[in-house]
Amino acid sequence: MKSMLQAPFLHLLAASGGLFSQIAESRTLPRQSGWPFAPFVTSGRDIKDTQGQNVVYAGANWPGAGEVMIPEGLQYQSVETIVTKMKSIGMNAIRLTYAIELIDQIYENDGVDVPLSTAFTEALGAENGTIILDQVLANNPSFTGSTTRLEVYDAIAAECAKQEIFVHLDNHMSRGAWCCNTEDGNSWFNDVDFNVANWTRGLAYMAEHGKSWPALVSMALRNELRSPDSNPELKASSYNWQDWYKYIKQGTEAIHGANPDVLIFLSGLNFDTTMTPVVRGTALTPGSETFDLADFEGYAEKLVLELHNYDNNANDCAALQGGLHNNGYQAMSPAEFGFNMDATEWQRTYAICLAEYMVTLKSGWFIWVLAGSYYTRDGTQDYEETWGLLNHDWSDWRSPEYVEGGLIPLIDGTAPP
Ligand SMILES: *[C@@H]1O[C@H](CO)[C@@H](O)[C@H](O)[C@H]1NC(C)=O
Ligand SMILES: *[C@@H]1O[C@H](CO)[C@@H](O)[C@H](O)[C@H]1NC(C)=O
Repeated sequence: MKSMLQAPFLHLLAASGGLFSQIAESRTLPRQSGWPFAPFVTSGRDIKDTQGQNVVYAGANWPGAGEVMIPEGLQYQSVETIVTKMKSIGMNAIRLTYAIELIDQIYENDGVDVPLSTAFTEALGAENGTIILDQVLANNPSFTGSTTRLEVYDAIAAECAKQEIFVHLDNHMSRGAWCCNTEDGNSWFNDVDFNVANWTRGLAYMAEHGKSWPALVSMALRNELRSPDSNPELKASSYNWQDWYKYIKQGTEAIHGANPDVLIFLSGLNFDTTMTPVVRGTALTPGSETFDLADFEGYAEKLVLELHNYDNNANDCAALQGGLHNNGYQAMSPAEFGFNMDATEWQRTYAICLAEYMVTLKSGWFIWVLAGSYYTRDGTQDYEETWGLLNHDWSDWRSPEYVEGGLIPLIDGTAPP
């Protein structure tokens, strides 16, 4: 999710294209006989479970990559209430985000995660941190001040398993903060905050940690790779497809090496709006190498392409759908989108056109965003999220008209419960 100024209207999370279907590997995987029927694999543009059924994500983003590095909203509601709310309209997945800094701090602290009391006071100050922590504990009585941040992630994953909601884990940022812009130091491999070794270490750590979550089915390498504009030398020397390939292979190896079961989502350049050379098999410039599934030996059927699109002021539906098609979307699967939850936005061309396209393609999706507010964002505590599906205190839908008139039909049209 970019900064609001250039807010993305649509994120497309896309399953591997037809390109990938050419490689069929026969591997014997441990088969699960109950929900979630994982591990999943890709087949052409589809994601398949162990029963051979198509899996279509219909869900929402639950951010946890802000300064506190704890999933949002728990000062207002319990984990169970929030998951139940999603389940009540038939959603089947969350895109749960985290920051690499969370794992860096565990390593700095001899392998021990930070407790909630520290996380809240460091991010919000002693006074507000204590107030918010007390509210979190009142709503979530199984937590204490010494519960760790990862134990909150564990609790969310456990509740999702209980209610049969898939967990897709997304590395959103290196530094815990609002994402994203081209000058935030987190834009590209080796940007100021984006240390590649820390990143692969963090991916592997979460992939390993997530093995204890039955609901975890997929992980993304990184949200919205983008031009490091505040780092001109890096931009000139490295912001290109050739380096992209070098680093994403390090990322996929980190995840796959730690957890061979999860699907791995790859994102492209320019806030992940382009995947062109990957989909078309053309040169990864400035080099001449091309994207080759043989480079992902043993797990080619785990790769998923993720494409985002920010054409939020589109008014020509055919042009919008044609553009997505040309970007390779017809060869892909899940999508992600979002918009201001006011009275009219959901009835404009973009929201309607996208929903129609996703229903036609039976594509999966994650809406940005579940959060009605953030503990803190861009220096403002208790930040109001007007794009939130939920209202400020996460107690009800912000736009019940959209949920009834747009969201539930989208769920029913793509992944009927
Ligand atoms: C603490 O919380 C209050 C109430 O939400 C808010 O007005 C104030 O700005 C917060 N303090 C800081 C340092 O943000
Ligand atoms: C990488 O992690 C170490 C802790 O292991 C930390 O000290 C360092 O600041 C991190 N690097 C970046 C760029 O965040």
